[in-house]
Amino acid sequence: MRKILLIVACVLSYCAVSQAQGGMWVPSLIEERVKDMQSKGLKISAGDIYATDKASYKDAVVLFGGGCTGEMVSSEGLMLTNHHCGFSVLQKHSSVEHDYLKDGFWAMNRDEELPNPGLTVKFLVRMDDVTDKVFAGTEGLSASEAESIKRSNIEKVIQETVGGTHYEADVKTLYYGNQYYIYVYEVFEDVRIVGAPPSSIGKFGGETDNWMWPRHTGDFMYFRVYAGKDNKPAPYSKDNVPYKPKKYFNISTGGIGEGDFTMVYGYPARTQQYLFSSGVDDVLSHSNPAKIKLRTMRLEEIQRARKSDPAIRIAYSYKEASIANAWKKWQGESLGLERLKTIAKKEAYEKSFEEWAYTKPEYKDVVSSLRAQYDSIHDYSLAWDYLREAIFAIELVQVMRIADKWIESPSEAIPQKLSDFYGDYYPEIDKKIAKKLLAEYMGKIPQRFIPDEVAEDIKTANGVDAYVDMLFQSSSFVSADRLASAIAQKQDLTKDPAVVFYFAFANMFNNAVRGKIIKYDANIEALQKTFVRGQKAFDADNKTGRVFFPDANHTLRVSYGSVSGYSPEDAVWYMPISTLEGIIAKDNPQEYEFNIPQKLRDIHASSDYGRWSVNGTVPVCFIANNHTSGGNSGSPVLNGKGELIGINFDRTWTGTMSDIEFDPEICRNISLDIRYVLFVTEKIGGAGYLIDEMNIVHSKAK
Ligand code: ARG
Ligand code: ASP
Repeated sequence: MRKILLIVACVLSYCAVSQAQGGMWVPSLIEERVKDMQSKGLKISAGDIYATDKASYKDAVVLFGGGCTGEMVSSEGLMLTNHHCGFSVLQKHSSVEHDYLKDGFWAMNRDEELPNPGLTVKFLVRMDDVTDKVFAGTEGLSASEAESIKRSNIEKVIQETVGGTHYEADVKTLYYGNQYYIYVYEVFEDVRIVGAPPSSIGKFGGETDNWMWPRHTGDFMYFRVYAGKDNKPAPYSKDNVPYKPKKYFNISTGGIGEGDFTMVYGYPARTQQYLFSSGVDDVLSHSNPAKIKLRTMRLEEIQRARKSDPAIRIAYSYKEASIANAWKKWQGESLGLERLKTIAKKEAYEKSFEEWAYTKPEYKDVVSSLRAQYDSIHDYSLAWDYLREAIFAIELVQVMRIADKWIESPSEAIPQKLSDFYGDYYPEIDKKIAKKLLAEYMGKIPQRFIPDEVAEDIKTANGVDAYVDMLFQSSSFVSADRLASAIAQKQDLTKDPAVVFYFAFANMFNNAVRGKIIKYDANIEALQKTFVRGQKAFDADNKTGRVFFPDANHTLRVSYGSVSGYSPEDAVWYMPISTLEGIIAKDNPQEYEFNIPQKLRDIHASSDYGRWSVNGTVPVCFIANNHTSGGNSGSPVLNGKGELIGINFDRTWTGTMSDIEFDPEICRNISLDIRYVLFVTEKIGGAGYLIDEMNIVHSKAK
């Protein structure tokens, strides 16, 4: 009955967009959502979530490194994030003798913690609406005239706000230029690794289980944030002391169950909820299929090669993971967009919007103008996709990106980055991939996006395969040895065929693609500003009750929902909580992705779970319908009392269209149960002393 009512309500009110729930809410405006949150189980107040005049939970959430989220869990600077977020910094400390990735790493005292030059965590100090300041003096000007004034206003606002302080600030737009916010951060640069489980726990399930439910990955890593003696940020020094955060999370071991309130507090990077129908069509009909096909080609070759040689598996494991991650996501996203009929719904909405806008000069032409701009940008954005995913995905071509300056005027010593590259490089694999990628590019992309000299060379060589053979035969970049002898012979590396190939495409891109993309993107942005404002007016006029939230832009947001199973297909119901029993069922010593540590097998065999035993087993992961995105990895998952119950790390792949349209029926975020984190810390890591540092509460939120 509820469904029928919903459908009727939808037809009356363009359910298209208004029915979809979800939302990534702005913390400083959370008061507006708190009633709804409380009706679903929130027990704390808006001021507990975000405040600037007192400590609040926002002070316990960090922007970790370039793209993840982390949370403070002790008064001594202890922080948690995901294993996959800390993976690359841990890799830097790893060697054959100390394989911290494989074996895990646990500092048994503070002296053993590992510093990481270049790694930062940022705490949000405050966020403020500065729209009026950004627009000051732009009244009556054209968009392009206003642009430079806005830019200098932004500089001024930043100066006024953080000039003379040790804070950093960013101004970012919400709703496509309709609103501007300043974000003030305190940035800490002494961040040390404290503990990480072995990959057989932290990456358990590997690519096979990535984006999947049921899930059993122990995807967590501990860090500690250090500060100067004054508790302020300081560059790395032995004399630094653990940072005392304004706030840290209490940890609840009380457990959760179906229907329980959950909230995710973190840094989602990018969503496109207000994308125009033609933009969705570009994703669904062109961009995703092209990118998926090109990555399938790369993955097939890598997988074939790694089955034949374990050394290749190690060398290509990180590459394979990063290629496969978006590849799987895009497939799920496409399925989801089709299933939701997002394009048809958006088109219907846009049609009604146009009818409504007919008498409103401000909005009258926005839909047709957007359509025209998308038509204009189409070929260029597709060419850009192919360039990134085919041409610049050839590893031999990437050397130019790794060591461009050095290649132009090389010295004897090969730069470290380039040596690292050769450590994990198999030219035979790359050559096979290059043949497929280049052939696909040549076959799918209009002539004008193929550099003349490359077309010429391919013709001379008698086809793509022979041309690629020639490229790999004559380039000095295929191995460190070849490169060293080229340098010894004082060869001009800028004439190397791989470098020439790279520049042919890079120049073509700069001359024929880049400018157009910038121009049409700017036009689309400007129209999108009007369109989003128009949608608010249109929906208000039609009383649809649709609640707007700004697309994710890598700033702090709150999502909320509840622990919730779902039906992935007819006659199947997924339960929302996984346990250690599932790990044991998947355990397989023959399969490196599913080969758990012997210690875990032993613990299971003797049911030696100690204080972490729940109904005779240990809970591992859970799903909920919080609206999250890339960047939310590592985010604290809180119960209604604001206590930490988990760490967010993934979504289900068939729900990843949530970046464009959220569907509460099947979109699920995947979190690690905090009790599994503590269990592994104590029983596998032998680092129970870390737990003593935390504030464990046994309460249940209800
Ligand atoms: N899918 C998760 C996210 O988008 C985890 C990625 C890392 N794990 C992996 N197996 N590739 O980032
Ligand atoms: N795994 C993603 C991340 O690294 C999270 C997601 O896309 O749901 O941020």
